[in-house]
Amino acid sequence: MHHFQYRDGVLHAEDVPLDRIAAEVGTPFYCYAHATLTRHYRVLREAFAGLPVLICYAMKANSNQSVVRTFVTEGAGVDVVSGGELQRALAAGAAPDAIVFSGVAKSRTEIAAALDAGILTFNVESEPELERLSAIATARGTVAPVSIRINPDVDARTHRKITTGRAENKFGIPYQKAREVYARAASLPGVQVTGVAMHIGSQITDLDPYDAAYARLAEVVRTLRADGHAITHVDAGGGLGVPYRLDDPPPPGPNAYAAVVRRHLGDLDVTILIEPGRVLVGNAGILVTEVEYVKTGADKTFIIVDAAMNDLIRPTLYDAHHDLLPVRAADGSPEAITADVVGGVCETGDYLARDRALPRFEAGDLLAVMTAGAYGAVQSSTYNTRPLAAEVMVRGDQWAVVRPRQSTDDLIAMDRLAPWLAPS
Ligand code: LLP
Repeated sequence: MHHFQYRDGVLHAEDVPLDRIAAEVGTPFYCYAHATLTRHYRVLREAFAGLPVLICYAMKANSNQSVVRTFVTEGAGVDVVSGGELQRALAAGAAPDAIVFSGVAKSRTEIAAALDAGILTFNVESEPELERLSAIATARGTVAPVSIRINPDVDARTHRKITTGRAENKFGIPYQKAREVYARAASLPGVQVTGVAMHIGSQITDLDPYDAAYARLAEVVRTLRADGHAITHVDAGGGLGVPYRLDDPPPPGPNAYAAVVRRHLGDLDVTILIEPGRVLVGNAGILVTEVEYVKTGADKTFIIVDAAMNDLIRPTLYDAHHDLLPVRAADGSPEAITADVVGGVCETGDYLARDRALPRFEAGDLLAVMTAGAYGAVQSSTYNTRPLAAEVMVRGDQWAVVRPRQSTDDLIAMDRLAPWLAPS
């Protein structure tokens, strides 16, 4: 469910017509619906009612300050994966003791910053990281709260680039080594290991992998407790998928997912952390773009728009499907054509849709790329010296630019001329 609907033939974000925003902000722009963000958070929280669950929003999915603040205001913690995200989470008002720090490559500086901030827990991904963390914490006269991420070797049955829980993936320690690594951790002075973490992948639309992974997670917790470790929390990760094709039957939702969590982890007498990203923000955001040209090629028709792979790389990187809707329902003749929707970046891989049945659009028409709230703006780049798109948030009949469009001057100003090239 989301809040992008047609009214009087114009696609609205909540109560605001998107063509009005386009006229004021220009295109392309991302638009987020506050009502959808809060609704998704509340539905997820409700699904876990009665369980001691802390929802830590995986801000990698969308790290705009207004988005993070929306969830923090609802009571969420935050899952961060870099020192940069930690700083952003704190700037957005996140409580340090509700922040978990995941990621395989935590630098010394990042670890020190997280220790200074007093975060809830480090999700440690390897033995060398454990040693480094202990050494840094000891040197600072403190003890780091730690969960160790277990790789359950379960196939999440999602795109190969976003599956994380297979033995061949770089994440976590093999579950078979858990006892050994926890024993080592218990002997280190600078860490206190109280949790077990797991995250098996993203855009998961089948609950069986969760079922297998959480069964393994519960088994690991029992084994570690039998070894004498005091495990007080588990982190079940994120990954729940969203419907990208609105015509398709929806994938399992929060209630079905929560039932799996409850079944395996509900009786462990632990605090349960979850790290959802996409399910909270995915269909709370869209990307609005304008048609520049329609070009009839030898084999294909190309609808050339002003957004490109630098704005939304998901189709290029993961063969992802995003529904496309005309902002003005009357735009595009009803006669359907099959076309590629492409941007202006000089790469054949630059497309938003391929071989898509669409109305025949014309230059000046506005298109909404749906379900672009997760891993959209955050994965954008300035390739081809294309400034980062604007981001807008709507709430009821109000709207605000929550990240202004980057200017080309700003972009160029980030470069420095080497002294020997500077004009004399
Ligand atoms: N926790 C950890 C440790 C993660 O690595 C991730 C996502 C999440 C939580 C949140 O997963 P979610 O609930 O959003 O599925 N760029 C890709 C997705 C990459 C996901 C990376 N890790 C895409 O556009 O599909």
